[in-house]
Amino acid sequence: MNVLVTGGAGYIGSHTCVELLESGYGVVVIDNLCNSNAESLNRVQKLTGKTLKFYEGDVRDEALLRKIFAENEIGCVIHFAGLKAVGESVAIPWKYYDNNLNSTLVLTKVMEEVGMKNIIFSSSATVYTADNEMPLRETSRTGGCTNPYGWTKYMTEQILSGMAFADKEWGIVLLRYFNPIGAHESGDIGEDPRGIPNNLMPYITQVAVGRREFLSVYGNDYDTHDGTGVRDYIHVVDLAKGHVAAVKYVDEHKGCEVFNLGTGTGYSVLDMVKAFNEANGLELPYKIVDRRPGDIATCYADPAKSAEVLGWKAEKNLMDMCRDSWNWQRKNPAGYGK
Ligand code: NAD
Ligand code: WQD
Repeated sequence: MNVLVTGGAGYIGSHTCVELLESGYGVVVIDNLCNSNAESLNRVQKLTGKTLKFYEGDVRDEALLRKIFAENEIGCVIHFAGLKAVGESVAIPWKYYDNNLNSTLVLTKVMEEVGMKNIIFSSSATVYTADNEMPLRETSRTGGCTNPYGWTKYMTEQILSGMAFADKEWGIVLLRYFNPIGAHESGDIGEDPRGIPNNLMPYITQVAVGRREFLSVYGNDYDTHDGTGVRDYIHVVDLAKGHVAAVKYVDEHKGCEVFNLGTGTGYSVLDMVKAFNEANGLELPYKIVDRRPGDIATCYADPAKSAEVLGWKAEKNLMDMCRDSWNWQRKNPAGYGK
């Protein structure tokens, strides 16, 4: 079966392409490279020894999508394409609503036309309200997002679940990712953010490689074991394997189902610094600074439903995540740029 991977040149998409190819799927990618580099796809092909088909373009381009569906027999779509910088979404909300909502609307319109109605969507733990008890279950409260990025994920979930309710031919899987970090163990593909990283692990690796002076730890007065924010970090290769499990699931089940992709364990920012140092024999410089607006103290998943229904469970541990993140950055100090 061929899988159309939107945003396949990006961080999670490229790792998912590897797992799909290694599981025997054909892969067709559409990506406009607005936050990625086509080199990632060259590396995916080198790594797997298999080829994929790449269309450079925008998912909102209806004509291009029709062409892709006409030229390839697609059995499932994994929809990663989207903008994801929380701060930028607050500054330029229209850009986020336009890109993230219209990409899904145009994509599903063309899927409906061609009668291919299996889709897996990249949602996020950000759709859960801040007042939930931990761990977060798929039935925990959602909404009340604090930024436009989060709203686009929430709204897309509403759009897709409404479509599945109205038309029983749709098979839709909403995957709520927790905090993906790490890289393929080869160190050939990994996360390559443009500009100053927003997320913790790429910031850590850029400090370690000398591109930034020190890590700013955003607050040490949270109600957590050491005062710093606690998150459920998940290895990107485990996350990618979760998508392969979802492709199999959606092939056999109609309707709309939501799954958490997390490990179920929370680590604090200082736990992460310690683990990164231990895994790699480094001493990362850091400073405690003020809290970052919008951050919550603690967020981690209950991944039981994914284990029971998808038969998927994260297998890699924190040491693997820290080692593989550093291995990628060390081998590619400037990301795909060099
Ligand atoms: P990424 O930016 O590395 O990948 C997204 C890819 O989509 C990029 O290659 C980008 O060029 C492409 N893209 C964006 N808009 C497009 C458009 N209109 N047409 C074609 N291509 C387009 O991000 P990622 O970390 O790999 O995230 C993938 C998805 O998972 C995103 O939807 C993101 O919101 C979601 N997600 C990510 C995280 C995370 O922490 N990384 C957490 C939860 C959810
Ligand atoms: C993790 C922890 C920070 C950077 C975000 C999005 C979410 C999802 C994943 C993406 C927090 C602390 C961070 C730094 C720090 N989406 N931190 N210094 O905020 O849990 O989730 O990314 O597509 O929607 O909100 O992840 O990696 O930014 O932060 O101390 O330089 O690290 O305060 O406690 P977050 P993160």
